Amino acid sequence: MKRAKITIVGAGNVGATTAHWCAAAELGDIVLLDIPKTEDMPRGKALDLMQASPIMSFDADVTGTTDYADTAGSDIVVITAGLPRKPGMSRDDLLVTNARIVGSVAEQIKQTSPEAIVIVVSNPLDAMVQRTLQVTGFPPSRVIGQAGVLDTARFRTFLAIELGVSVEDVSAMLLGGHGDTMVPLPSCTSVGGIPVTQLIEPGRLEEIVQRTRDGGAEIVSLLKTGSAYYAPAAATTQMIESIVRDKKRLLPCAAYCDAEYGVGGYYVGVPVVLGAGGVERIIELPLGDSERAGFEKSVEAVKGLVAAMDNLLD
Ligand code: LAC
Repeated sequence: MKRAKITIVGAGNVGATTAHWCAAAELGDIVLLDIPKTEDMPRGKALDLMQASPIMSFDADVTGTTDYADTAGSDIVVITAGLPRKPGMSRDDLLVTNARIVGSVAEQIKQTSPEAIVIVVSNPLDAMVQRTLQVTGFPPSRVIGQAGVLDTARFRTFLAIELGVSVEDVSAMLLGGHGDTMVPLPSCTSVGGIPVTQLIEPGRLEEIVQRTRDGGAEIVSLLKTGSAYYAPAAATTQMIESIVRDKKRLLPCAAYCDAEYGVGGYYVGVPVVLGAGGVERIIELPLGDSERAGFEKSVEAVKGLVAAMDNLLD
């Protein structure tokens, strides 16, 4: 069987680390692309990664390029291009600059890889994935945003630390936008099958939920020169794996919701089944009153962001 062709647009920290995890997991052959101004940098990173393969024992061709022709016919395209946050910036501060960058990437992908499944990682995530859908005109099942896997990974990490248990036993779900209004769902979070609400008292659980919401900003304030990349790249790799291996993982992703949850045509984080067709199913959960209120607030924030983007780009 032919290996999957995975293009990663943006050879910065998130892009290069995604290439690293994908190559190590032998998910396919990888093309790492950056803008022409970077000159040979993507080629250097690709070659360096390939030279790790005899030691780490993985078979994957890794190509670096600044030319979209090399990405032609990709099965998966990951968009990480755009500016990262600096300390004190919210994801939304990047709106116009990154909408232009992501729009031009989407234009190229539409021409060179018309059958690709696109995973958007650039921020502000929920607006950037909408922009990608607008520009490519691809079916929404093939345009997906990465956020929920990262956000739940942060939630799971904090819960495992709190309880002194393996992260493997912590399972969590979360809804809404990738921003300050994200809605972690304690009702869908369990540890070894035990509802988390039986293990952590409500006040402490709320503190952990808040740390999860602020998880990206916490890393930005520590790094000072950029935003998180190991966990965002690992989250993206898990989504790629579910698609190229048709695993049908049930993961929280930013998916296009129209009738679903009554959203009306926007990207928000919801549980989806990810397989060879991209988003194969959106799972609709019955929500409690406070979860529903949190979700609606988050959807309003996403709508505001998309409206601001559309206005500024006109
Ligand atoms: C974060 C950025 C990448 O959450 O959105 O770390």
